Amino acid sequence: MTTDAEDFGPGEFLSANLVEGDSDVDASLRPGSLGDFIGQPRVREQLELVLHAARARGRTPDHILLSGPPGLGKTSLAMIIASEMGAAIRITSGPALERAGDLAAMLSNLVEGDVLFIDEIHRIARPAEEMLYLAMEDFRVDVVVGKGPGATSIPLEVAPFTLVGATTRSGALTGPLRDRFGFTAHMEFYEVDELVRVLQRSAAILGIPIAADAAVEVAGRSRGTPRIANRLLRRVRDYAEVRGDGTVDLAAARAALKVYDVDELGLDRLDRAVLGALVRGFGGGPVGVSTLAVAVGEEPATVEEVCEPFLVRAGMIARTPRGRVATAAAWHHLGLQPPAGAINQVHGVRAREDDTGTLFD
Ligand SMILES: Nc1ncnc2c1ncn2[C@@H]1O[C@H](COP(=O)(O)OP(=O)(O)OP(=O)(O)O)[C@@H](O)[C@H]1O
Ligand SMILES: [Mg+2]
Repeated sequence: MTTDAEDFGPGEFLSANLVEGDSDVDASLRPGSLGDFIGQPRVREQLELVLHAARARGRTPDHILLSGPPGLGKTSLAMIIASEMGAAIRITSGPALERAGDLAAMLSNLVEGDVLFIDEIHRIARPAEEMLYLAMEDFRVDVVVGKGPGATSIPLEVAPFTLVGATTRSGALTGPLRDRFGFTAHMEFYEVDELVRVLQRSAAILGIPIAADAAVEVAGRSRGTPRIANRLLRRVRDYAEVRGDGTVDLAAARAALKVYDVDELGLDRLDRAVLGALVRGFGGGPVGVSTLAVAVGEEPATVEEVCEPFLVRAGMIARTPRGRVATAAAWHHLGLQPPAGAINQVHGVRAREDDTGTLFD
């Protein structure tokens, strides 16, 4: 069940993306109810109301979109929604729904009240998406049989269900799809005290003795992300078991984080590479995200969905209409003197997480 550091590619182990070996541990650490779900007070309250009202009316809740960077708890929330409603959950993902028929098969198997969870819903193929519109709105689909002039469309009833969609890029969703969700939950990065609670909960489940100050240290370097907090906890435990008596104290936590190349802000190698390219390669920007991605040898989507939201939140990068710009804080973080024109840190500005969010529009 445990994962060794060797399973991770370079710079990968801090990424919030799910990597091999995570899934088992993720599953055992997943909160099982809304009460168990730490942080996200706004989303929790909104969801509580939606679910409560639906239960009181004896209806299935409205369709729900969960949006936010990887590892913040979207899948966990989808499962919680189903269990709070006492419903079964069927799980699929945008990329798996390549043909409309794939979706029709899923939909026709639904039982009244079921939760259909579509992860990475922004990657759903167009024909399936169009079928989904009708299913979400009218609980029916039109299945087209045959081709050309002889093709007929057969209407098919779908049991009333709740669609829960998850996306790391709500800006990439088409308007018509977004409009059919009755409620969108925007997940925010977690505060340090919330991550401390996540860590204490996980440590208790996994039987890891961890000192309070060590938990604060790890939480502060987890990029606001529970999945990363849990992953760092396991790495710190490895260190404490091999080099110490198994207790995670502050010294062990700090030493382990150093071994794994996690800096004081929790930035990993890829984050630092992006900042480095922006600052050293492009004089601080503005530069387009795809150019940046090429410079660090990564997929644009990874830079945009995994690195950038946190760098914006940390006040290191600003999104402008002309491209990404390094803030003075980014220059300082790399130990460099910012040029006279560098924009000041944008601390306190809660950048929106979807890619429509620019600081200057
Ligand atoms: N609010 C929370 N309280 C406690 N643990 C949490 C919370 N949110 C997430 N976690 C932990 O983080 C792990 C990752 O969460 P989850 O898989 O739900 O993220 P996700 O947003 O679906 O990520 P992805 O975008 O990669 O699918 C969970 O297994 C759980 O251990
Ligand atoms: Mg998920």
